[in-house]
Amino acid sequence: MKFFKFSYSRLPSISFSSRTYIVIFFIASFIFFVSSCVFNADYKDQIAPIEHDGNKLVGSTQCKKCHSTIYDQFVKTAHSKTSMPANKDIVKGSFKEGENSYVFSYYDGVMMQDLDSGLYQVNFLNRKFDKAYKFDIVIGSGTRGQSYLHWNGNRLFQLPISYFTTSNSWSNSPGYADDFANFGRPIGSQCMGCHSSYVDVISDEKKPFEEFDKSNIVYGINCEKCHGAGGKHVDLFTSNPTAKGDKLILNASHLSQSLQLDACAVCHSSNAANLKPALYFKPGDSLDHSHIQTNQQVKVDVHGNQYGLLLESKCFVKSTTMTCSTCHNPHEQQRGDLAMFSQKCIQCHTPEKANFCKMTNKMGVAALQKNCIDCHMQKKESQMLNVKLDPTEKHSPAVIRSHLIKINDELPIKLSQLFQREHSIPFDKIGKLY
Ligand code: HEC
Ligand code: HEC
Ligand code: HEC
Ligand code: HEC
Ligand code: HEC
Ligand code: HEC
Ligand code: HEC
Repeated sequence: MKFFKFSYSRLPSISFSSRTYIVIFFIASFIFFVSSCVFNADYKDQIAPIEHDGNKLVGSTQCKKCHSTIYDQFVKTAHSKTSMPANKDIVKGSFKEGENSYVFSYYDGVMMQDLDSGLYQVNFLNRKFDKAYKFDIVIGSGTRGQSYLHWNGNRLFQLPISYFTTSNSWSNSPGYADDFANFGRPIGSQCMGCHSSYVDVISDEKKPFEEFDKSNIVYGINCEKCHGAGGKHVDLFTSNPTAKGDKLILNASHLSQSLQLDACAVCHSSNAANLKPALYFKPGDSLDHSHIQTNQQVKVDVHGNQYGLLLESKCFVKSTTMTCSTCHNPHEQQRGDLAMFSQKCIQCHTPEKANFCKMTNKMGVAALQKNCIDCHMQKKESQMLNVKLDPTEKHSPAVIRSHLIKINDELPIKLSQLFQREHSIPFDKIGKLY
C-alpha cells in the first residue's frame, strides 16, 4: 500500500493544472524576491557578535585551522547538523511526484514543491491552491526526522509537514492536529536555543511573540556552544603558537563532575521550561537541579531526559566519576557502534572485578561484550516524536535509547540476533534461556 500518493482519487480535481503551477510560481518568486533581499547568507561563515564579557565568537571554521582532526570528525555529528538553512541536499523528504504529498482529508492537503525560487509546502483547501510557504530552516540532523521552519517577517513558524526517517516519508509535524494543515505555530528561542548555537532575539520582552535577526544566526551546535567564545584563545595562539599557561578557553574536562553534566543537561533533560534556557547558558554555568526531574516523573523521550535517567542508574549512583563523556566523545559520530560503547561498560565491569554480567556463565564473556547496550539500555518508544504517516493510520513513534542502565526483565533482542555473527554458544542452549 502506498501512503503518500497525493491520492488523486481522493482529491480528483487538483491534479496540479498548469494554471496552478503558474500561480505557485508567481507567489514563490515573489516570496523569493522579498526574502533574498533580506537574507542571503552563507551559514558557515556567519558569526555572531561579541559576547557580554568582550570575548568574540569566531565560528568553528576558525578552530579548524589548528584543530583540524577534531573539526573534520565533528562536522559529521548530529550536533553539527542539527539546524541549517534549507536546501535540496539537506531536506531529506522526496519532492518527486507521487511521493511529495501529505493528505489530511478530502478537503486539505499539502504538496512539497521544488521550484526555482526554493522549496515550498503548498497547501490545497477544497481542492484549490490556497497558500505556499517556504522551507527556510531545517531542524534535526535527520537521524530520526526533520522539522522545517518558515520566516514570516522576523518571526519563525513551524511548517505542518515534517520528515520521518524510519519510514523515509513525509508525516504530520509532531504534536499537530491530525485533520488539518496548521501553518500558524510560532517558534521561539527555546527551540533554536537547543538546536542552534546562537540566535539574536530582537523583540522587546513585552511582545507576545519573539522576533529574530535573520542575519545573525549560528546554525548547528558548534565548537563554541560547548567551549565558550574562542576569540581570545585564537588571538593568543595565533600570535604565540607555543603560549604556556591559561589557554583562555574552556575545556569541560577541567570542570567538576556536576558542571560537566550540566553542560549537557541544559539540552538533554527534557523539561527545558524549568531550566536555564540553552540560548543563555554558557558552559561552566550551573543549572538549578531542584527542577530536574528524574524518571519517576518523566518518561524517556526524544527530547530526551538522558540526564535524569542516568542519575537514577546504579552505575551513576555507585560510581563517583561518571559524566556523559565517560561514554560519549562529543567530537565524533558514534551512533550505532555498540561494541565501542560496550567497551566503556567494561572499563568498570570486568570478570576480574567480579562485577561483570550475571549472564556470563550462560553465554560467555566474548559474546556478551559485543553488546551490553541492547540488554541494559533498552530502546523505548517516544511519546513526543510520534507522528502520523497518513491520517488514516495509527501514530508511528520513533524509538529512543533509555539511559536508565538496569537489569531488564524482558530481554529486548533475540539472542540469535545478538550472536548472529559470532556463534559462540550453540543455539539450542540459547533456546533454553527462554
Ligand atoms: C591558532 C591556533 C588555534 C586556533 C585557531 C584554535 N586553537 Fe584551540 N588550542 C590551540 C593550541 C596550541 C592549544 C593547546 C594544545 C595543547 O596544549 O596540547 C589549544 C587548546 C585548546 C583546548 C584545550 C584547552 C585546555 O585548557 O585544555 C580547547 C578546548 C580548544 N583549544 C578549543 C578551540 C576552539 C573551540 C577553537 C575555535 C573557536 C580553537 N581552539 C581554535 C590552538 C588553536
Ligand atoms: C545546545 C544544546 C545541546 C547541548 C549543550 C548538548 N547537546 Fe547533545 N544534542 C542536542 C541536540 C539538539 C541533539 C539532536 C541532534 C539531531 O539529531 O538533530 C543532540 C544529540 C546528541 C546525541 C545523539 C547523537 C547522534 O548521533 O544522534 C548525543 C550522544 C549527545 N547529543 C550528547 C551530548 C553530550 C555528551 C553533551 C555534553 C558534552 C551534549 N550532547 C550537549 C543538543 C545539545
Ligand atoms: C531543551 C532542548 C530542546 C528543545 C527546546 C527542542 N529540542 Fe528538539 N531535540 C533536542 C534533543 C536533545 C534532541 C535529540 C534527542 C535524542 O536523540 O535523544 C532533539 C531532537 C529533535 C528532532 C529529531 C532530530 C533527529 O534528526 O533525530 C527534531 C526534528 C527536533 N528535535 C525538533 C525540535 C523543534 C522543531 C523544536 C522547537 C519547537 C525543538 N526540537 C525543541 C533538544 C531540544
Ligand atoms: C557538545 C559539546 C562539544 C562540542 C560541540 C565540541 N566540544 Fe570539544 N570538548 C567537549 C568536551 C565535553 C570536552 C572534554 C572531553 C573530555 O572530558 O575528555 C572537549 C574537549 C576538547 C578539546 C581538548 C581535548 C582534546 O580532545 O584534545 C579540544 C581541543 C576541543 N574540545 C576542541 C573542539 C573543537 C575544535 C570543536 C568544534 C570543531 C569542539 N571541540 C566541539 C565538548 C564539545
Ligand atoms: C564508571 C564506572 C561504570 C561504568 C562506565 C558503567 N557502570 Fe554499570 N555499574 C557501576 C557500578 C559502581 C555499579 C553498582 C554495582 C554495585 O552495586 O556494586 C553498576 C551497576 C550496574 C548494573 C546493575 C544495575 C542494577 O540495577 O542492579 C548493570 C546492569 C550495569 N551496571 C550495566 C552497565 C552497562 C551496560 C554499562 C555500559 C553502558 C555500565 N554499566 C557502565 C559502574 C559503572
Ligand atoms: C554508560 C554509558 C553512557 C553514559 C554515561 C551516557 N550515555 Fe548516552 N548513550 C549511550 C549509549 C550506549 C547510547 C546508544 C548509542 C547508539 O544507539 O548507537 C547512547 C545514546 C545517547 C543519545 C542518543 C539517544 C537516542 O536513542 O537517540 C543521546 C542524546 C545521549 N546518549 C546523550 C547522553 C547524555 C546527555 C549523557 C549524560 C547525561 C549520556 N548520554 C551519558 C551510553 C551512555
Ligand atoms: C543478553 C542480554 C545481556 C547482555 C548482552 C548483557 N547482559 Fe548483563 N545482565 C543481563 C541479565 C538478564 C542480568 C540479570 C541476570 C540475573 O540476575 O541472573 C544481567 C546482569 C548484569 C549485571 C548485574 C550483576 C550483578 O552482580 O548484579 C551487570 C553489572 C551487567 N549485567 C553488566 C553487563 C555488561 C557490562 C555487559 C556487556 C559486557 C552485559 N551485562 C551484557 C542481560 C545481559
